[in-house]
Amino acid sequence: MNHYFTNDDVKSSLQKIKVTISDKTFIFNTDNGVFSKKGLDFGSRTLINSVLSENISGKVLDVGCGYGAIGIILSSFFNIEVNMIDVNKRAIHLAKMNIKENNALDVCAFYSNIYENVNEKYDVIITNPPIRAGKDVVYKILFDSKKYLKNTGTLYFVINKDQGAKTAIKDLNEVAKVEVLKKYKGFFVIKCIFN
Ligand SMILES: C[S@@+](CC[C@H](N)C(=O)[O-])C[C@H]1O[C@@H](n2cnc3c(N)ncnc32)[C@H](O)[C@@H]1O
Repeated sequence: MNHYFTNDDVKSSLQKIKVTISDKTFIFNTDNGVFSKKGLDFGSRTLINSVLSENISGKVLDVGCGYGAIGIILSSFFNIEVNMIDVNKRAIHLAKMNIKENNALDVCAFYSNIYENVNEKYDVIITNPPIRAGKDVVYKILFDSKKYLKNTGTLYFVINKDQGAKTAIKDLNEVAKVEVLKKYKGFFVIKCIFN
């Protein structure tokens, strides 16, 4: 069975979607074989809207960026530098197109299986993690983020109550200060500062 995150040969069918957040509109190229190709995922939208009330600065890493919505939108609101990574090559191709499409000059996208190609530390790591890739991958993204965050860095992520939100919060509490920024329609937006 092919999942959206595998580099399979699903036939391409490019389309453009329009996403409005607050007063800004973005255009994203999407395609078959990538996550939430018909429109911005509700969890991602909830994550973005919650993080907009935070004070985001410095350099940000969007893990599992898909076609690049979270990183490109945040860079536009906060005027920050953003790196975006994904294991799906088609998603990275689209993310690069979308950087140009939205004139996101301070954003770049590159292929990486979890953090394998990441060589620096960030002020913020943000993710809507790939639940369908399994708990091991999700936990590596969440727990290993500590190694790629500066000392004062923050991890933000979104997870549904039916996808293990409460267990993730309990487990992260062992190694970080965990705050639930928002609970909305089953989605938890979580902020972690590692010990
Ligand atoms: C829930 S989707 C979120 C996509 C995008 N951030 C959005 O909001 O539309 C999770 C993403 O993680 C990616 N992914 C899955 N396994 C991964 C891995 N091992 N390393 C990096 N990214 C991965 C998937 O390809 C997918 O794009």
